Amino acid sequence: MSATPSIESNLEKYPQEVTLTDGRRLELRVVGAVDRNAILAFARGLPEQDLLFLRVDITRPEAVDRWLANVAEGTTLSLIAYDGDAMAGYATVDRTPARWTRRVGELRLTVGQGYRGQGLGRHLSARIFDIAKSLGLKKLTANMTPDQRGAQAAFQRLGFVAEALLTDFVEDRDGGLHDLVMMTFDVDGLTDHADHSLQL
Ligand SMILES: CC(C)(COP(=O)(O)OP(=O)(O)OC[C@H]1O[C@@H](n2cnc3c(N)ncnc32)[C@H](O)[C@@H]1OP(=O)(O)O)[C@@H](O)C(=O)NCCC(=O)NCCS
Repeated sequence: MSATPSIESNLEKYPQEVTLTDGRRLELRVVGAVDRNAILAFARGLPEQDLLFLRVDITRPEAVDRWLANVAEGTTLSLIAYDGDAMAGYATVDRTPARWTRRVGELRLTVGQGYRGQGLGRHLSARIFDIAKSLGLKKLTANMTPDQRGAQAAFQRLGFVAEALLTDFVEDRDGGLHDLVMMTFDVDGLTDHADHSLQL
């Protein structure tokens, strides 16, 4: 088994070009303060259905500022895909500072509507997954609602399994309640939870 590269050598790969299945070439960059306006413009262009379920409401400048502050502090690491000057999608890994869960990281992924179904979700999820492993995280989670099938497919491809279904855990922006699917991945293949994934 090959050793996991250090986070420094992993991040040296960026900026990096990726080609979508329709031939468009995008650049993946590590997120920093310079990306603030592009993130806001991207968020404001997302369809209502996506905004309903955004875990962090990045249409709000203060939420973007908190994201960038977490990046500066090192608790969050994110990649952005750029199509020229416009943001096409992002992937992020958040570490929880609490001692009990310090080895757990949450992955999040959003691709702009005009770029879906062209492999960008796959590129971003695979790379943020490698970054999460380089950070020494041992358990990765990704949260979504049961009808976010695209996200489930993208994470299943990486070996994630649905580990928990939490009833009425999500309140959308309109106050509607939805179940939450927690998908997880054990980096070392070691686990003390039941070895059956949920059938959703
Ligand atoms: C989920 C999401 C990131 C996928 O991005 P994408 O660029 O369209 O994904 P890709 O083209 O790389 O496809 C990845 C896989 O998901 C599958 N997939 C994508 N959308 C799908 C859908 N709506 N239903 C079923 N499968 C889907 C693809 O077939 C592909 O599977 P494969 O690799 O086995 O062929 C994107 O749809 C999105 O941003 N959705 C809204 C936000 C969201 O759900 N975020 C997840 C929260 S963690």
